[in-house]
Amino acid sequence: MSKESEDRRVAVLTALRSSPAGVSGEMLASALGVSRVAVRKHVAALHDLGYGIEARPGEGYRLVYIPDTPLPFEIAPLLKSDFYVRLEGGQATGSTNDDARALALAGAPEGTAVLASEQHAGRGRLGRGWASPPGGLYASIVLRPTAETPDAIVLPLVVGLGVVRGLEKLGARVRLKWPNDVYVPDGRKLSGILLEGLSEGWRLAWVVAGIGLNVRCAPEEHHATCLDDLVSKRHPVPVVAAAVLDSIAESYRTWCAEGFEPLRAAYEDRSWLGERLVHVTDVAGRLLADGRVSGIDGHGRLVVVTADGPVNISAGDVTLQDGEDGGEDQDGA
Ligand code: BTN
Repeated sequence: MSKESEDRRVAVLTALRSSPAGVSGEMLASALGVSRVAVRKHVAALHDLGYGIEARPGEGYRLVYIPDTPLPFEIAPLLKSDFYVRLEGGQATGSTNDDARALALAGAPEGTAVLASEQHAGRGRLGRGWASPPGGLYASIVLRPTAETPDAIVLPLVVGLGVVRGLEKLGARVRLKWPNDVYVPDGRKLSGILLEGLSEGWRLAWVVAGIGLNVRCAPEEHHATCLDDLVSKRHPVPVVAAAVLDSIAESYRTWCAEGFEPLRAAYEDRSWLGERLVHVTDVAGRLLADGRVSGIDGHGRLVVVTADGPVNISAGDVTLQDGEDGGEDQDGA
């Protein structure tokens, strides 16, 4: 869609919103400086995006329903941060991480975000799938950090903290399971984060931060929960998206300017692992540490005190020794 066409569509929507009783096609056409046929086309396009627009002979058009999906039209006016320069998508897609990756490879700037209301090929960590039914928020953000690649190892924690702070603004009490899973205190998973990037020597050409958040419902077969079960207010998906995107931008900008140290205490305060007894394994399932968590170091590594002393772990899968974390992650299998 051309920028001009998109602007007209937004103008039609704005006019419909500001006239709850309805507005005639003629008035819309003259306000926008287009023909009535063009107005009809824009109304039809909005209808395809999920807007309910009544067309009554003699009375014109009336907006009766706004879709509960992460449409850029709806999110953009709610964003407080000026970090986001381009919002894309908003309907069903394969994977927003794949879409954002394609945009990053084509040169999209930092602050480009792709959103979806559902995904048919959602991807999770460790090659797993990510169940992405309608009623969720699926978002991927293009980042272009200037930090050296080894320092960017902490980025998943930075993004995770952003997600949690965004959810707190919406009234949810949530925790971070290192490195970046979002849990509720009883151990059910609310959100997952997948970072993918392209390293060019010591720098990262781009990173895509993908966030999957169960908003209206949680996949039944997994140990998962959703936002609606945590808060009394039903927040529209665009409101959830704006809160989360704003907080991610804030955490990310702090990290870009000052590193992880200023975020460390905030992360530790929200750590689901606390000082629990854990097993940490690598991707191949080999044991990295068996002991008690003592915190997160300045590089975002998990510090586990083992019988042989403290071990600082930069990547791994953590399970509780007492089996409290409920087992399987949410995945699309
Ligand atoms: C995890 O395994 O916990 C990470 C899940 C990440 C899912 C999100 S949904 C938006 C983005 N697109 C994807 O295909 N995956 C990420």
